[in-house]
Amino acid sequence: MKRLLIADDDAGMRAALEARFQRRGWLVDVAVNGTEALAKFRAGLHSLVITDVRMPGRDGFELMREVQTSSARTAVILLTAYGCVPDAVEAMRNGACDYLVKPVCFEKLELAVEQVLRRAEEFGKDTETLIGHSPVWEQALDRARQAAATDADVLIEAESGTGKELIARLIHRLSRRKQGPFIALNCTAFPETLLESELFGHARGAFTGAVGARPGKFETASGGTLLLDEVGEMPLALQPKLLRALQEREFDRLGSNQTVHVDIRVIATTNRPLEAAVGEGRFRADLYYRLNVIPISLPPLRDRAGDIPELAEYFAGLYAAPGTPGTRGTNARLSRELLARLEEHAWPGNVRELANFVRRAVALSRGGEIGVEAFDHGKIMPPRLPRSPEWKPGLSLGEMERQLFAMTLESTGGNRARAAELLGVSLRTVRNKVREFGLPPRNNYRNHLLNNVLRNNKEQPCP
Ligand SMILES: Nc1ncnc2c1ncn2[C@@H]1O[C@H](COP(=O)(O)OP(=O)(O)OP(=O)(O)O)[C@@H](O)[C@H]1O
Ligand SMILES: [Mg+2]
Repeated sequence: MKRLLIADDDAGMRAALEARFQRRGWLVDVAVNGTEALAKFRAGLHSLVITDVRMPGRDGFELMREVQTSSARTAVILLTAYGCVPDAVEAMRNGACDYLVKPVCFEKLELAVEQVLRRAEEFGKDTETLIGHSPVWEQALDRARQAAATDADVLIEAESGTGKELIARLIHRLSRRKQGPFIALNCTAFPETLLESELFGHARGAFTGAVGARPGKFETASGGTLLLDEVGEMPLALQPKLLRALQEREFDRLGSNQTVHVDIRVIATTNRPLEAAVGEGRFRADLYYRLNVIPISLPPLRDRAGDIPELAEYFAGLYAAPGTPGTRGTNARLSRELLARLEEHAWPGNVRELANFVRRAVALSRGGEIGVEAFDHGKIMPPRLPRSPEWKPGLSLGEMERQLFAMTLESTGGNRARAAELLGVSLRTVRNKVREFGLPPRNNYRNHLLNNVLRNNKEQPCP
């Protein structure tokens, strides 16, 4: 059930709001001041908080800040007197919140509720809960907590879908910058010229179409954290400017020679080891050392398979929750057999792939228990891979290499260009190795894989 917390020192207002929202199916708690509200919030973790700004003791702004640091998924609406509007605007620089000027019109309030809830869902999507207790995951979390206590730049290296952004947001939330903005920029999302202006902003008339001046992400993140996603793909030509911005915390907007100073922490992520990119001349060594002040590497899901059941059950609860858009609101549970099967799977797309599988399984279920057939019938599932290669002391380098090429090609469904990219070698090398090791032709990967699984794991293929 949707939970709402109302904080207002005006009894009439509290009663009116409580009655209206209860009629619309909300479970409502009320509080007479910010302190009581915070205590109730900590006990109830409401999805929406509607609070008066001026209250005795802890005011609405303070309540909002506390709520937002404990839960990114909670939306907050401030009810403010006309004179406080500038403060309300300032308080809402970030996150899912809105304000309404008193006296409040209920229709407007309902509209605002709808909008902030949608934003809270977006904002909180990747931030709320970190699942997992395996030692390798706990180690990574400890490292993130240590990093959060400093103001140093962080480099997160890990496979796709392992939780890099989640960890970056956690570092921000636990850092002294938590009240500041968290701004993310994916370095692959823009062509070179646009990327520069996205990063550093531009002056009016800096290029065709630059009708007005605009700040870049470095500037908007000031006071907070800047996440540079997939920094390894940053074009070489832009790297010196990024290096200077990191070193000096200053830069010029495009087309301007006025230096801008910023106060930020940079967290960079990469799917592919940056050191290899340095070796290949695609990434500047000095920039790599500058970014790599605190390195954090996250384990792929297959290396923390013990966390898979907990993650799967968490996602099942998330996607089966009544009212979750795109789900059926069922009370789906995953059978033990299915959980065991999920635990065996190699999950090349890591946690994101697992989450997508569970979302699909829940959406297709008719409620009740979801059995192992959800996995076996899921044609969308990629083929199963041996969880880890059979590497042990004494194995020859040649055999290790063969297994590595075979596994990588299996994970790309035989796509050699993609395999070359993943392995950080040329397409020609992949072709040569395929010939040298006698690996199967492109379209035979599914069969080859099943044979491999049988050979390695001595188990039966799926029916
Ligand atoms: N430990 C975890 N607990 C709960 N959810 C998780 C966990 N790890 C990852 N997720 C979820 O998996 C998805 C992928 O995580 P995230 O986007 O942080 O990965 P990423 O490494 O940045 O991926 P990419 O390389 O594709 O950008 C997100 O929806 C995230 O919420
Ligand atoms: Mg990411």
